[in-house]
Amino acid sequence: MAVQNVRIALSGLGNLGRRFVRLLADKKVYLHERYALDLVLVAAADSHGAAYDANGLDPSLILRTKQLAGTVAAYPEVGRPEMSSLDLVRQVDADIWCDATPVNLANGAEPGTSCIREALEKRMHVVTPNKGPIVLYYQELTYLAAENGVSLRYSGTVAGGLPALYIGTRALHAAMIDRIEMVPNLVTGLILDLVGSGTTWDDALALARREGVLEADPAWDLDGWDAAAKLVIVANSVLSYPAKLEDVKRSGISGLSLEKIRSEFERGRRMRLLARATRTDSGYSLIVAPHTMPSDHALGRLGPREMGITYYTDIYGTVTATIKEETPLPSAATMLRDILDIMLETEDR
Ligand SMILES: NC(=O)c1ccc[n+]([C@@H]2O[C@H](COP(=O)([O-])OP(=O)(O)OC[C@H]3O[C@@H](n4cnc5c(N)ncnc54)[C@H](OP(=O)(O)O)[C@@H]3O)[C@@H](O)[C@H]2O)c1
Repeated sequence: MAVQNVRIALSGLGNLGRRFVRLLADKKVYLHERYALDLVLVAAADSHGAAYDANGLDPSLILRTKQLAGTVAAYPEVGRPEMSSLDLVRQVDADIWCDATPVNLANGAEPGTSCIREALEKRMHVVTPNKGPIVLYYQELTYLAAENGVSLRYSGTVAGGLPALYIGTRALHAAMIDRIEMVPNLVTGLILDLVGSGTTWDDALALARREGVLEADPAWDLDGWDAAAKLVIVANSVLSYPAKLEDVKRSGISGLSLEKIRSEFERGRRMRLLARATRTDSGYSLIVAPHTMPSDHALGRLGPREMGITYYTDIYGTVTATIKEETPLPSAATMLRDILDIMLETEDR
């Protein structure tokens, strides 16, 4: 089979973007041999500029440039300081646009949203682990993708590398889903277990921050916004329930007392920020709240770096999947998963 070139443009070279660039290099030979695909990174952007070469950029040189100069715009010869990701998406000739920029809900999920709109209108497939555009504009963006005959994939938006959305949308055909329970936020579980085992609240936050798993604005995680956003994405894509963030009844872990967390922990019970969608007569009720997990619940056995989801269905029984995510690699790998999924589905292979 002839090897097919797939041209990729990437916006965002942070924790996920850089790991994804490394994956493209590490998996190059395997992708050739196994799928007859050559994933060529033709463009990359960060907050200071971009680099674009229709013949392909060198992943190792991108990473070295980013590390030494702080921006990909310093890439030799084809670096473009000051070029925004929106300029890039307008100019680039690529098959797939990957967005790994910050969530930025307060700002209309920019720059992700505008770039994704532009990419879909240019008939580029889009892959993103960025919840922002999906949670705010799910209906519009999925419509735009369908109208332009391209795919929009976002499997990294819910519970890191866990294929939570793939299970819900691919593996439960014809099922009535009565309830979904998920622990989709890693850092709150980590903090609850640290505090439960005697670490102070401040030290637990500091450790989470040092490990890079706490968002720059801790309220996003601690007050349950992140879990609520993921619940909205699951509701829309798996349950076809057109929920918005304001439909989620939300409380976070910041208000929990130290005594309560420690006494549950000492009794061997784990507290987790649980996101639940429960079927009602008129749709689904959506709740995010701290919960003491029963020890016989599959999600009650989650460790401090684990996330999980349980689907309660009428015909497939109760389906649970969990993930232990010790680094952001699995989250970064969701971009590779989504790209391969698109290519294997759309190509006549
Ligand atoms: N980290 C995880 O474990 C994880 C898991 C699942 C999903 N996600 C989601 O994946 C996305 C990326 O996460 P991350 O951890 O990689 O974030 P990050 O480390 O903060 O990196 C964000 C990247 O976006 C770039 N950026 C910011 N503003 C930009 C702009 N206006 N134009 C172009 N680039 C811009 C930054 O540029 P500079 O390098 O110049 O600052 C940086 O390279 C986020 O939406 C996050 O919620 C993350």
